[in-house]
Amino acid sequence: HPSNPQMEGNSGLRRANCRAKGGAPGFKVAILGAAGGIGQPLALLMKMNPLVSVLHLYDVVNAPGVTADVSHMDTGAVVRGFLGQPQLENALTGMDLVIIPAGVPRKPGMTRDDLFKINAGIVRTLCEGIAKCCPNAIVNLISNPVNSTVPIAAEVFKNAGTFDPKKLLGVTTLDVVRANTFVAEVLGVDPREVSVPVIGGHAGVTILPLLSQVNPPSSFTPDEVKYLTDRIQNGGTEVVEAKAGAGSATLSMAYAAVKFADACLRGLKGDAGIIECSFVTSAVTELPFFATKVRLGRTGAEEIFPLGPLNEFERIGLEKAKKELAESIQKGINFIRK
Ligand code: NAI
Repeated sequence: HPSNPQMEGNSGLRRANCRAKGGAPGFKVAILGAAGGIGQPLALLMKMNPLVSVLHLYDVVNAPGVTADVSHMDTGAVVRGFLGQPQLENALTGMDLVIIPAGVPRKPGMTRDDLFKINAGIVRTLCEGIAKCCPNAIVNLISNPVNSTVPIAAEVFKNAGTFDPKKLLGVTTLDVVRANTFVAEVLGVDPREVSVPVIGGHAGVTILPLLSQVNPPSSFTPDEVKYLTDRIQNGGTEVVEAKAGAGSATLSMAYAAVKFADACLRGLKGDAGIIECSFVTSAVTELPFFATKVRLGRTGAEEIFPLGPLNEFERIGLEKAKKELAESIQKGINFIRK
């Protein structure tokens, strides 16, 4: 690699070229924040994904070490590392998918909004790079507060004239993963057989599991509904407290991020019927962004599904969620506009 050949395995370039000629399906994926608690296991799991031909690992610290380590795995993807702001553009050029887990995580007692001061600026800088170097890439935004960082990214892309609402996806998959796990526990079934839609946003009361729409169709007592809704909304805090100052969810988050990224790649490849929940530009409510089920295709989130029938408990939850979401969205927009 021109900028830092020492950060790539010997045969990397030759292999990358062969692959391009051979036409094997393969996408170029960058992880920004790749040396972090989420970034490292996410890099590991993406290196195992057969849909990935090139994996770029960018961070402001420790990118060379993580890159050397992951590059020794005997899987297909060619791994390249990029360290610090001067290498951001090389990290992004030519990418099909950019996954962003860069930024500080919560400590006990903090809300996701407490991270805004630091993470808003990080997300802005990274998105300016994306607008310049890979404006057509799908973006999976993990950095919190997602309810504000997605609007920030949208504003940056609008200013650059590159905004494609189908390609900007806030990652809420961990809420769905948790919901599936906790609901399966209550039902006494295998979590792989359960699918719970989680709508709204990604913080506290904005996380709205739709237990009336669980698949397979299931009924819950009022106590179970309250227990499950609380646990799903506070799943992140459960991990933050258990880690006692050492960060927030990283391993389950990396799993969720890969589940979502893989769905995006299968959509890009042209697979049919790929449906995931995501926080996206949406006309489903009066808010400019909202998480619902979306269908992922060759151009990103090609179809946004409506909320479906809600029960009384969910309708009340929706009103609460919208109130908080409206403020978080506006805060993100103001960060760029003012
Ligand atoms: P971490 O602190 O372990 O890792 C963050 C990484 O970002 C570090 O390696 C750091 O060097 C890097 N970084 C900082 N500034 C950067 C910049 N300007 N450019 C590139 N990289 C930069 O944090 P962790 O646990 O990996 O969490 C990352 C983010 O993900 C946090 O904001 C956290 O709140 C969020 N998160 C989101 C979830 C979701 O469901 N969407 C779930 C869990 C965490």
